[in-house]
Amino acid sequence: MERTLIIMKPDTLQRSLVGEIVGRFEKKGLKIAGMKMMELDDLKLEEHYAHHKDKPFFGNLKKFMKSAPVLLMVLEGAEVVQAVRIICGSTKGVEADAGTIRGDLAMTNWNLVHASDSLETAESEIKRFFNNDELFSYAKLGTDMVYESEFKG
Ligand code: PPS
Repeated sequence: MERTLIIMKPDTLQRSLVGEIVGRFEKKGLKIAGMKMMELDDLKLEEHYAHHKDKPFFGNLKKFMKSAPVLLMVLEGAEVVQAVRIICGSTKGVEADAGTIRGDLAMTNWNLVHASDSLETAESEIKRFFNNDELFSYAKLGTDMVYESEFKG
């Protein structure tokens, strides 16, 4: 099964949306493999958002991401990277489809969640934020009701 990284950004905690957001992923049938809360510093943010370091919004992005703690989650499932990106919606809240987290709950680039954009990115982002002993393998009850037996994912 694939794994992907979710960062619930400071606006998630500040707007009391932790349960709402975690609930959407749980209801989809995804398995939580790891979860924790932390404060991000410049070093971590400059590594995580390295591809945006020359963008005009980089300073604001760092300031925003340091404004309160974030919650990090590793989700597991078949084709989970794609499934999670669809649930999150496109970057800017006002442009995101209704029914998605950003489309229903956000207006701007303060968009509540970060989600890995490919399997390759997910692997490096999970390593960036989680040690191996913080990730859990277990048999999740109900999995046989989420995936039909022929499903290869
Ligand atoms: S780009 O240039 O199209 O790749 O950039 P974009 O996808 O629009 O945004 C990349 C990430 O930066 C965040 N962002 C911001 N955060 C806070 N404040 C401002 N002004 C801002 N502008 C962009 C945006 O939410 C994306 O975050 P992630 O975590 O990658 O979803």
